[in-house]
Amino acid sequence: MNPKILIIGACGQIGTELTTKLREIYGVNNVIASDINTRNLELVNSGPFEIIDAKNFNAIKDCCKNHNIDTIYLMAALLSATGEKYPMEAWDLNMNSLFHVLNLAKGGAIKKIFWPSSIAVFGPTTPRENTPQHTTCEPTTVYGITKQVGERWCEYYHNKYGVDVRSIRYPGIISHKAMPGGGTTDYAVEIYHDAVKTKTYNCFLSENTQLPMMFMEDAIKATIDIMTVKKDAVKIRSSYNVAAISFTPKEVAASIKQHISDFEISYKPDYRQAIADSWPKSINDDSARKDWNWKHSFSLEAITKEMLFQLNKKYNNPAKK
Ligand code: SER
Repeated sequence: MNPKILIIGACGQIGTELTTKLREIYGVNNVIASDINTRNLELVNSGPFEIIDAKNFNAIKDCCKNHNIDTIYLMAALLSATGEKYPMEAWDLNMNSLFHVLNLAKGGAIKKIFWPSSIAVFGPTTPRENTPQHTTCEPTTVYGITKQVGERWCEYYHNKYGVDVRSIRYPGIISHKAMPGGGTTDYAVEIYHDAVKTKTYNCFLSENTQLPMMFMEDAIKATIDIMTVKKDAVKIRSSYNVAAISFTPKEVAASIKQHISDFEISYKPDYRQAIADSWPKSINDDSARKDWNWKHSFSLEAITKEMLFQLNKKYNNPAKK
């Protein structure tokens, strides 16, 4: 039988594409999209949609009841860069939305939860290369703190109340549909848009800042893989490291230049540089690969090719979109 799914934060960068994919798999009417507003009209008009503030327990509860929801993907969050501007709002949204969903599942109404964590759980005292699954986590951003604490609560609700909550630590996600909002890794999306629009990009991170990254298709695959594997296979109930590739702004610029030879990049690091410097350069995801067969597909070259192809269609040939 198909699950009945609620996606909270469906208009965001990952939510948008997750909604489409889950609807392809389970049918449009089995996947209820929700967000705090209707900012993404294409998504809003693509199937059942509800306005839900993720901080509002009763709104989530009523929606679950009305639609017989048994599975929730909680994608609403304030990311790292925005979180530094609005620390209390980030804490409020990121923590309370998680408690709402965990408490619904504790009461038995919800059978399965997906909650994303992030490489932001790591900090300056974490080994930066090939960062292990289990290691020192002393995050310096509010976002990272909410994800680290959230991981503890997920594990706690699983151990104490048997809640089937599953989680992965996303790296920076590269995609061409909805823009990311307020993250430190956003440069890796903006650079492609600007390359296609103006052949220039002014990067807010320095040229040799290496971060773990992943193409959206791989991120969606990881999400659905962990959600569909047998319960017993999910051995880690805090959150799994998942990795694909790592690169620097200089490397992504070089890969764009292979296609747009007169593309030019300049660098003006801002407050986000310190955040990036506190995060790993590369991630060890052996546990995910072993426990539920995680495997990525997209290389930097493949990502660049696809991003430029899709964005060219969008900006230079909109009629044929
Ligand atoms: N992409 C996120 C950010 O930069 C990391 O999870 O905040």
